[in-house]
Amino acid sequence: MDNLRIMSEHRTKIKTEEVNLFYGDFQALKNVSMDIKECAITAIIGPSGCGKSSLLRLFNRMNDVIPGVKVEGKILLDDLSIYDKNMDVVNLKKRVGMVFQKPNPFPMSIYDNIAFGPKHHGIKQRALLDEIVERNLKQVALWNEVKDKLKQSALDLPMGQQQLLCIARALAVEPEVILMDESCSALDPESTMRVEGLMDELAQKYTIIIVTHSMEQAARASDMTAFMMMNDDRSGGLVEYGPTEQIFSTPKDKRTEDYITGRFG
Ligand SMILES: Nc1ncnc2c1ncn2[C@@H]1O[C@H](COP(=O)(O)OP(=O)(O)O)[C@@H](O)[C@H]1O
Ligand SMILES: [Mg+2]
Repeated sequence: MDNLRIMSEHRTKIKTEEVNLFYGDFQALKNVSMDIKECAITAIIGPSGCGKSSLLRLFNRMNDVIPGVKVEGKILLDDLSIYDKNMDVVNLKKRVGMVFQKPNPFPMSIYDNIAFGPKHHGIKQRALLDEIVERNLKQVALWNEVKDKLKQSALDLPMGQQQLLCIARALAVEPEVILMDESCSALDPESTMRVEGLMDELAQKYTIIIVTHSMEQAARASDMTAFMMMNDDRSGGLVEYGPTEQIFSTPKDKRTEDYITGRFG
C-alpha cells in the first residue's frame, strides 16, 4: 500500500496522546503519541526492553493486573477512552483481542477452544456454535485440516496450527482490533508465512497491531511501522512512526536508520 493512500484512506482506530506508563517507580513508556489506522497492519519494532509489549498491552488493559501499574495520558478506541473509570473492561477485551508469542490453546478440544468465547458472551444454541466454529476455522484456513477431529485436544496440534487456532479463537468473539505480540517467533518459516498471509487478509476487516523482532517481517507484512527505543533513563519512547515503506526506505531519524540497517539492537 503506498504512503499517501494509507495516510488518507484509513481513519484512526486507536489514538494515544502523551502516554506514560509506570511499573511502580519505573517509567516504562514516556510520552507516546500515535494514531493507529483502522484496517491496516501496524508493526511495532525496536530493541528488547524498549516497551513494545507494554505499549501493546495498554490497548486492551492487559497491564491492569500488574501491581503498581500507573497509566497517564489518553488512549482512545474510536471515541471511547480506554482508561476511563466507567470503561466496560470485559467489552473492551472482546473488541480488542490478543494473540501471544507462544501458542496457548486452552487444554480442551479444538471445538471448545473456538466456542469458549462465544459461550462466555452468552451464545448457547448448539447450531449457532457449530456455525461459529466452522466459520472461524475457515477464516484462518484451518478447517480442512481439523474438521474431522474437532473433539480432539487442541494441544495435540502442531505448533503452527495451534497458533492459527489461537487466532481463530480470538476472531470468534468478533473483535475489531487484534494485538499480536511476536506471534510468529515460535513458528517455523512455513507457519510464519501462513500467519502473515492470514494477517494480510484479516486486515481487510480488522485493525491489526503486531510487535515483531524481525525487521524483515515488519517490512514485508505491515502498512505502518513504529520504531521505539529506550531513552537514557531506560523509559521507552516512540522515535519514528510512519508508512512502512517510508520508514524502511527514507527514515527521518538517524536512530531509525541505524536500527534498520542493523547497527544496533
Ligand atoms: N510487569 C512488569 N513489572 C515491572 N517492569 C516491567 C514489567 N513488564 C515489563 N517491565 C519492564 O518494562 C520495560 C519494557 O518491557 P517490555 O514492554 O516487555 O519491552 P519489549 O516488549 O520491548 O521487550 C523493561 O525494562 C521491562 O523490564
Ligand atoms: Mg516484548
